[in-house]
Amino acid sequence: MNHDFIYDIPVRIYFGVNQLSHLGDELTKYGKKVLLAYGGGSIKKTGLYDKVIAEMKKAGITIFELGGIDPNPRIDSVRAGGELCKKEKIDAVLAVGGGSTLDCAKYIAAAACYDGDPWDFFDQDVWAPIPRALPLLTVLTLSATGSEMDCGGVITNTETNDKIGRMEPALLPKVSFLDPSNTYTVSAYQTACGAADILSHIFEVYFSTDNDLYMLDCMAEGLIKTVIKYTPVAIRNPNDYDARANLMWASSWAINGFLNGCKKQAWSCHPMEHELSAFYDITHGLGLAILTPRWMRYTLDETTLPKYKQFGINVFGIDPTLPDREIAETAIDKLSEFLFETIGLKSTLSEIGITDEHFAVMAAKAERIGNTVNGFKPLKAADIEAIYRMCL
Ligand code: NZQ
Ligand code: ZN
Repeated sequence: MNHDFIYDIPVRIYFGVNQLSHLGDELTKYGKKVLLAYGGGSIKKTGLYDKVIAEMKKAGITIFELGGIDPNPRIDSVRAGGELCKKEKIDAVLAVGGGSTLDCAKYIAAAACYDGDPWDFFDQDVWAPIPRALPLLTVLTLSATGSEMDCGGVITNTETNDKIGRMEPALLPKVSFLDPSNTYTVSAYQTACGAADILSHIFEVYFSTDNDLYMLDCMAEGLIKTVIKYTPVAIRNPNDYDARANLMWASSWAINGFLNGCKKQAWSCHPMEHELSAFYDITHGLGLAILTPRWMRYTLDETTLPKYKQFGINVFGIDPTLPDREIAETAIDKLSEFLFETIGLKSTLSEIGITDEHFAVMAAKAERIGNTVNGFKPLKAADIEAIYRMCL
């Protein structure tokens, strides 16, 4: 197989507890007027907001603020941030928070350099190009999305029930500060959802019928084992530095593009989940946790069996002398046990109040927008609807 691919992930990472002192120097490389973007207030409760403001003031930065960015961030926040950047001639954007804040900040940075309505970036009929954006720096507070080290972002339009993601090189952060101790206050629930998200990012690439470098499969399996080992530790002891550090670095490497190698296959669970979040505003990782084992069972056939077998043996240590199908099914059982028992996530859509009311519409959108027909196993709308039903 031809292994040609491009590796290009130019994000400077400051990892660890004593790195915030570099924030001022990094910001001033891009200018003196900075928009500080954050979510619903967790950074004020934890004291991180005060520390960030102090570093910015020390560097002589003029600070503008946009708070209140929601989980599943809304296009309205992008519009407000973009307008503010234009009006105040902002030089750079600093996002402090989880994936929602970081994603929103990416599109604020793009909207600041765009004359039209920022929903044009997501409207399938317009898909406005994003050749440039303001420089973005981030301080991550939740290990999950990998937004700190990728060029993607997902934005919701509540008027149209759309939640749409896009990857654009111009949106890649210049610098990200990853201090695991900033995640000590993340709840057990969000820690578990974050773990499900990290795992899914790895699965979307690992479960592929394209063969790629053996080395990349080993890296993927190592990351999966890291998440399985350390999530329960972080839930039991939220201040365990090693657990939080392993989860944080795993979240970045799960989706920064390194694992892709030459694989070109489209993702499957993410497009299905984005419809759940779009219609029901649920936490992304929870939707993924419920979908993933069902997707695995649905896609398990003679073509996909070798990969599920590899997963069972290398990740869960299942006896390789057992029949292949038994190895694959046991692996899926073990993943379900991890998600629903060990880290305590709810296991069905019914439990979180979702019925089959919108399944047909959601499935059609997932196929159309998410390109699921080019996934690990091609999924058309009818397949997606069947998977949603398995989750009830
Ligand atoms: O808003 P605040 O008050 O900050 O509270 C947040 C929010 O309520 C809270 N939180 C964050 N850090 C905390 C904390 N609470 C206590 N202590 C801390 N240190 O946690 C809640 C969830 O935050 P959010 O940012 O929504 O979570 P997450 O990081 O999981 O981001 C989810 C969003 O990212 C998108 C998802 O679809 C979803 O919209 N994704 C982005 C991706 C990307 N950029 O590549 C890929 C992913 O697949 C995903 O789709
Ligand atoms: Zn995700």
